[in-house]
Amino acid sequence: MPSLVVIGAQWGDEGKGKLVDYLTSNADVVARFQGGNNAGHTLVVDGVKTKLSLVPSGILRPNTRCVIGAGVVVDPEVLLNEIRMLQEAGVDVNPSRLVLDRNAHLILDYHRLIDQAREDARGDRKIGTTRSGIGPAYEDRASRTGIRLAELNSMEELREKLAENMKQRNLYLARVLESELQANFEEQWAKLERVRSVILPYIGNASLLLYNALEHEEKVVFEGAQGTLLDQTFGTFPYVTSSNTIAGAVSTGCGIGPGSIDHVLGVAKAYTTRVGQGPFPTELRDQVGQYLAEKGAEFGTVTGRQRRCGWFDAVAMRRAVRLSGVNALAITKLDVLCGLEKIKICIKYKLNGQELEDVPALASELEKVEPEYIEFDGWQDTLEGVTKWHHLPVNARFYLSTISEIIGCPVTIVSFGAERESTIFSSGASYVKNFVK
Ligand code: GDP
Ligand code: IMO
Ligand code: MG
Repeated sequence: MPSLVVIGAQWGDEGKGKLVDYLTSNADVVARFQGGNNAGHTLVVDGVKTKLSLVPSGILRPNTRCVIGAGVVVDPEVLLNEIRMLQEAGVDVNPSRLVLDRNAHLILDYHRLIDQAREDARGDRKIGTTRSGIGPAYEDRASRTGIRLAELNSMEELREKLAENMKQRNLYLARVLESELQANFEEQWAKLERVRSVILPYIGNASLLLYNALEHEEKVVFEGAQGTLLDQTFGTFPYVTSSNTIAGAVSTGCGIGPGSIDHVLGVAKAYTTRVGQGPFPTELRDQVGQYLAEKGAEFGTVTGRQRRCGWFDAVAMRRAVRLSGVNALAITKLDVLCGLEKIKICIKYKLNGQELEDVPALASELEKVEPEYIEFDGWQDTLEGVTKWHHLPVNARFYLSTISEIIGCPVTIVSFGAERESTIFSSGASYVKNFVK
């Protein structure tokens, strides 16, 4: 049962989508296990860009089935639009290729409105969410009032439940959040009826499908969304998302046993980015930060916001590797560092003169840590046309081997461009190679 988990090891947008697409030419199934359309995964194939937020990044591989696990929160209209966008682009999307778990919860209009009203009310204490209703939808799941995909099978009961939920959420919007935003029942109902007619055949039992696939030795890739530092429990709380993003979430999000996970690949950029608010110890608020943002085209896929940029943070990375049992790292966007004279890696955090063992739990403390760096000579050569590890400039190889040494985890993949071709394996990458033809 060869399975591979691909997770973000930083604050999201590490290039998970690109790698999942790359690592599925020889895979049978690709499954999302958490998050929702707060994710924006970009695939570039033969110069054509595809942006996915819900459909797994294996969809461009014709022999791969895609699964949206029960741990994902599904905005049905976003899903419908994404299916249509793919079909219009000539991608075969049908119920035999895409299965949505019946237990996945829906994101409804009132979730989005609550997300927006809360962010607006927070003023300068905003989390900087994607305003897509992720947090409120997960709250409803936890408080047992959420609505699941399976409920689209019994519209009469659903109508009653939706009316009750909407009444309460509208009261909350008006009386507690003092917002003028209100969800409209008939509008929401009409939307649900419209999407229902299309997505009903896609709803199935993803947990059983995955169990059978793994029993039959099929190759399964689990695609993470967001990143470790945005994990609801272990991230930089409260500036996090509302789901667990670490590898352990594969089991709860897809309904498979933890023993079914064979290999965890952590994806990290060769530097660090963050979109939204919250502490960021290695942030560069200078020309180098601006250089990385421009050269790396660091603008959010979902909201278009400019991502904040900084140096690679080995302290946070060690934590990410530990939290998910990461077996190997894929370092992306190495091309963006080309041309810099000096490059730095943060190897230590100090707070009030004391070295810290791990990332502190309080955002107020993380704001104050003093990062300590080691400095490298950069490289000027372009990485275009590189097909083998030893083609990489010597300083780039030294940078990668130092990361691997400091973190105690091998770097087995390097990406240096958005296209599939700009990806190479190290000699230690034998496991992940199974997923590529
Ligand atoms: P994800 O959310 O982790 O899937 O990442 P995003 O798609 O949100 O952001 C990564 C961005 O970088 C996308 O625009 C990718 O096309 C692009 N990208 C991925 N890998 C590389 C790379 O190695 N070099 C460059 N220059 N761009 C890359
Ligand atoms: P992918 O899968 C980067 C961030 C938001 C915000 C915080 C909470 O593309 O890597 P939410 O809408 O989830 O309640 O927002 O999390 N965030 C992401 N940042 N990449 C993502 O996904 C993100 N999904 C959420 O910017 O700071
Ligand atoms: Mg993204």
